[in-house]
Amino acid sequence: MRKLIKILGVAGILATLFLIAMGFRGRSIAASVYETPGRLLESLPDSVDLAEGARLATTTGCHGCHGKDLSGEIFIDAPPFLVVAPNLTSGAGGVAGAYRGPADWDRAIRYRIRPDGRGLLPMMPSENYHRMSDEELTKIIAYLMAAPAVANDLPQTQLRAMGLPIAGFGVLHPRREQADAPSGPTPPPSPTADYGAYLSGLTCVECHGDDLQGGPTPGGGPKAPALGSAGRWPFDAFVTAMREGVALGRTLDPVMPFEDFEAMTDLELEALHRYLATLELGAP
Ligand code: HEC
Ligand code: HEC
Repeated sequence: MRKLIKILGVAGILATLFLIAMGFRGRSIAASVYETPGRLLESLPDSVDLAEGARLATTTGCHGCHGKDLSGEIFIDAPPFLVVAPNLTSGAGGVAGAYRGPADWDRAIRYRIRPDGRGLLPMMPSENYHRMSDEELTKIIAYLMAAPAVANDLPQTQLRAMGLPIAGFGVLHPRREQADAPSGPTPPPSPTADYGAYLSGLTCVECHGDDLQGGPTPGGGPKAPALGSAGRWPFDAFVTAMREGVALGRTLDPVMPFEDFEAMTDLELEALHRYLATLELGAP
């Protein structure tokens, strides 16, 4: 018995030391400064369709997390971290003033790196936006840069004592190879499965899983189902699910962002539908 207590005691001390070491590592990762990745938008063309930028900011989820007026909101307030989707405008409490131009916005959106070079937490889904085409990104950035100032003074994202060891495992900050990787080629907008796969990679994968075979919804709520069957529904039924949140007569939980997807064009929905039809049907 004494021996067991001794072993448990030593194991406890070792575990504590390990967590403290991971905490230090986490603190250093959080303070790391990342170099500029290879390909960034350096400038914007003279005229950009801002309404299209606003539409894309809706369908790709920016408004869902940063608010309809981009003034930000508290995203997660949990023991390990306080995660804030910042106010992206130039109003009081907004971050826009720190952005020197399109390249800084690109770095944050596609590479998860702040203007000062530090990494952003993965709750900002840059892994998904990494492949966003220059054309679409240009419109979103022009829209962000033209957005009216809204005052909303939010606290800053914080890794708390329990969050630092988690960061120490390296999962929270952009890894070098990620930051350096160029975006892959983007298929041209057309009603094809290829373009549908691209669109699905920007948002759907966040909840429905990388291969759209279903997954837990980040932040809780009902499980996001596998989407192979929806690809076999008649196109009209798919559109009703995407724009009105009614799937074959069943009203979907609003965690499925159909209010944002209402803004998807027919072409985008057709491309997505074609892509979903190529997915394997999972077990029922
Ligand atoms: C799932 C929620 C979510 C979505 C979707 C999302 N963001 Fe974010 N974003 C965040 C969070 C959370 C942070 C802060 C992360 C941190 O503080 O480490 C953030 C950070 C940012 C930043 C950096 C702000 C700063 O501190 O300098 C920018 C810029 C940004 N997001 C733009 C966008 C744009 C543009 C889109 C759409 C293309 C988008 N975000 C979509 C949650 C989201
Ligand atoms: C923020 C999380 C989230 C995102 C992003 C998301 N979904 Fe969903 N989706 C869900 C959840 C959760 C459900 C299940 C809702 C329910 O059962 O009430 C769902 C249900 C669906 C359904 C109904 C499926 C069925 O068999 O009933 C379809 C179709 C669908 N989503 C398509 C998409 C597509 C296409 C995208 C990307 C353009 C997408 N979703 C993005 C969370 C999400």
